[in-house]
Amino acid sequence: MVDSVFRTRSFGTPAEGVNDQYADGRAAKVWEIFIGDKKQRTQNYRDFLVGLLRQKGCRRILDVACGTGVDSVMLLEEGFEVVSVDASDKMLKHALKSRWDRRKEHAFDNWVIEEANWLTLPSDISHLIGEGFDAVICLGNSFAHMPDSFDDQREQRQALANFERCVKPGGLLLIDHRNYDYIITTGSTPPKCIYYNSNHMTDIKTSVLYVAGKPKIITMDYMIALDEENNKENSEYISEFRLSYYPHRLTIFSDMLTEIFSHKAKHTIYADFKSLNQVKNPGFYIHVLEKHR
Ligand SMILES: C[S@@+](CC[C@H](N)C(=O)[O-])C[C@H]1O[C@@H](n2cnc3c(N)ncnc32)[C@H](O)[C@@H]1O
Repeated sequence: MVDSVFRTRSFGTPAEGVNDQYADGRAAKVWEIFIGDKKQRTQNYRDFLVGLLRQKGCRRILDVACGTGVDSVMLLEEGFEVVSVDASDKMLKHALKSRWDRRKEHAFDNWVIEEANWLTLPSDISHLIGEGFDAVICLGNSFAHMPDSFDDQREQRQALANFERCVKPGGLLLIDHRNYDYIITTGSTPPKCIYYNSNHMTDIKTSVLYVAGKPKIITMDYMIALDEENNKENSEYISEFRLSYYPHRLTIFSDMLTEIFSHKAKHTIYADFKSLNQVKNPGFYIHVLEKHR
């Protein structure tokens, strides 16, 4: 495979136009199998997110990477008012279907779902921003999908600034990323995953692409056993889809957030939903920014 072309996405996903790594529909189809029981997500995820939003008095939430709608549905069920956006119509199709299936429930009837890109977010949803949302969430390692096309992280900064514009003064941004420092050092993801609880056996194969000595792109091949028996010998163990990510280093990403939200914002970093010093090799870092009033 040494002389093969380096692919950053699944076959069938176009490289031009809107950068939608989910455009072939494969990941969208199996994403919910991968994350497991949607209702439960994982209890600590639910407790953390819902607990924090309630504690801060948040009611109106913008989910900027809703994907198939897993976080949004959880929040609707917990009584929040939710606006959900995503750039991928293949992913949104699943969210729209959930909305349709449950349209007789008041919360779902009021659920707003729009197609939007982080780079044009304020204009894409200008009619929905008003005074700003109580909280903006970007979870599930979504932000790392944004590449660094100009080698200076300008688009990532732009996207974060657009998120900041959607947060009302005193409101929150919750944004996460995998522990890329660990992935770069070891070549694999930390063994424990707080987000997913699939009954299907899952595995992630990680590759790191270095450009000029710096890790530039991380690709993950998501392997899923589609039969619940999880029988590897039956060769049901398939490399289902490939996604690529920008490897955010914790300190650099934190500095970027501080730069955009200013030093006056309160910035707390959690490791797998616990305080930083409680977890040795967390799978995920979750940043919570409280915008200055
Ligand atoms: C890994 S999925 C996460 C979905 C969901 N939050 C979860 O945790 O399961 C990442 C989502 O980010 C979306 N995304 C990536 N880049 C985007 C962009 N520039 N604008 C809007 N959405 C984007 C993708 O389309 C995808 O649905």
